Amino acid sequence: MTASEARMRRILIVNGPNLNLLGRREPETYGSESLDEINRRLAAQAQRLGVEVSFFQSNAEGEIIDFLHREGFDADGLIINAGALTHYSYALRDAITAVNIDAVEVHLSNVYRREEFRHQSVIAPACIGHIVGFGAEGYFMALAHFAEKSRKA
Ligand code: DQA
Repeated sequence: MTASEARMRRILIVNGPNLNLLGRREPETYGSESLDEINRRLAAQAQRLGVEVSFFQSNAEGEIIDFLHREGFDADGLIINAGALTHYSYALRDAITAVNIDAVEVHLSNVYRREEFRHQSVIAPACIGHIVGFGAEGYFMALAHFAEKSRKA
């Protein structure tokens, strides 16, 4: 297969509750960049790396699950910051498993240095790995992983 015949890999980038407030929400913990600004940088980086990205953010658990049902089967990877859903949503974990997608869990803050309830991720067993504590850089690390994987495929 030549490079031009190769299908461009599509990566879903999903953010959960309250992440629409990035830039305004507790900037000392989550940084001063808005989600739109982060996503614009991710889109530019994806173009450089030769992968396609689709963005989704919702404050509603069911909407995230519906999005995964719609898009997950045909996508090549998932980068997900599920916000607080991370810590209790078995439904989200089941959805990631159900669509059989390689997922990387990202958290801007180092959840292990924070309140105890943030130390547990119920979605982690459905993910291939997770990246915490590197701010927005975490999304880029996950994107680099998928780009490298598609390069080797
Ligand atoms: C977060 C960490 C979660 O505990 C919290 O509920 C968030 C953001 C992070 O990116 O650090 O909403 O996922």
